[in-house]
Amino acid sequence: MHDQKVKWGILGTARIATKSIIPGIQRSKNAEIQAIASRNDDLARKTALKFGIPTHYGSYEELLQDPEIEVVYIPLPNHLHVEWSRRALEAGKHVLCEKPLALNTEDVQELVKLRNKKKLKIGEAFMVRCHPQWLEAQRIVQSPKFGPLRLVQGTFSYFNRDEKNIRNNYPIAEGGGALWDIGCYPVHTSRFMFGEEPQRVLALVEKDPQMPVDRLVSAILEFPSGQALFSSSTQLVPFQRMSFFGEQQHLELPSPFNPPEDTPTVLQLHNGKNPNHPPREVVLAPSNQYSLQADEFSRAVRENTEVPVPLESSLWNTAVLVALHRSAVSGGWVEPTIE
Ligand SMILES: NC(=O)c1ccc[n+]([C@@H]2O[C@H](COP(=O)([O-])OP(=O)(O)OC[C@H]3O[C@@H](n4cnc5c(N)ncnc54)[C@H](OP(=O)(O)O)[C@@H]3O)[C@@H](O)[C@H]2O)c1
Repeated sequence: MHDQKVKWGILGTARIATKSIIPGIQRSKNAEIQAIASRNDDLARKTALKFGIPTHYGSYEELLQDPEIEVVYIPLPNHLHVEWSRRALEAGKHVLCEKPLALNTEDVQELVKLRNKKKLKIGEAFMVRCHPQWLEAQRIVQSPKFGPLRLVQGTFSYFNRDEKNIRNNYPIAEGGGALWDIGCYPVHTSRFMFGEEPQRVLALVEKDPQMPVDRLVSAILEFPSGQALFSSSTQLVPFQRMSFFGEQQHLELPSPFNPPEDTPTVLQLHNGKNPNHPPREVVLAPSNQYSLQADEFSRAVRENTEVPVPLESSLWNTAVLVALHRSAVSGGWVEPTIE
């Protein structure tokens, strides 16, 4: 039984599922897709046919009742993540849910209780954490030559003004807008690299004049050891970068969140002696972070080990994002709290 690949089921025919997750799982070593469900039976059938998935369902509930399915992957609009995570756990399935997992910390706490009661695995799909570049970045930053990490700077942007897109047509309270969609990545990776939680945060947000969402956000996170600053936008030139500054060296990640899977990933390490010197390039073999995520999550299921991004991490990420949204309204510093 334990030699068999872990069988996954997918709720919905989301773009992220068809573009990245399904191809990623299909290249994974220890996961396979058993079924896909859609609210539209015909769409489920066509998507199953296209990807060679054995079973399809015309409702999410039917997939949850399929005894073959071990892990349910949830790429639904953000306000549906908690409800379907809860329903999947109650049906006895392990859950990998897209980011942001929840829109308040109370919901994460409820999922923690249910996870513990059911003795199942659940994690948030921050696939970046499965890409080797983040472990390498952490190793570099923790080295004595780097000097302690004191400052993180980041940018994540793309351009999408489509009012029908889930990022634009759900209000902020239901998970729409730039901070929930992509601001969550600099928050998550700053927390990961500092290995700490921010004590207070400040956000400046620009809302779209027509759509009910934030379209440009800049934030400061005060950590015990230093500061993180980032900007995210859904209406700017596509760009992403994360920079880490120690007392001696400085590290740049030019493709922090969507590194291409077919070319090597390059990290740039500046030795700090002469700012005009070109950086030393740390070159990593190409890898598919979605395949690695499926591998690591499936291994956690088979070997009863920790998932890549457990609820304990989601709890703080949610608390920080909620605090940033509150700060954007009040204009003042807000302490992230877990209620
Ligand atoms: N980790 C990553 O790299 C990454 C990248 C992009 C997005 N995401 C996350 O993945 C999730 C989906 O994003 P996406 O851009 O792929 O979304 P999308 O293409 O709009 O897909 C969302 C899917 O949810 C289902 N759905 C159920 N109820 C719905 C409703 N009321 N309104 C709209 N759709 C509904 C639909 O499937 P059916 O019609 O088939 O039922 C739809 O295809 C989001 O949480 C997002 O944050 C993650």
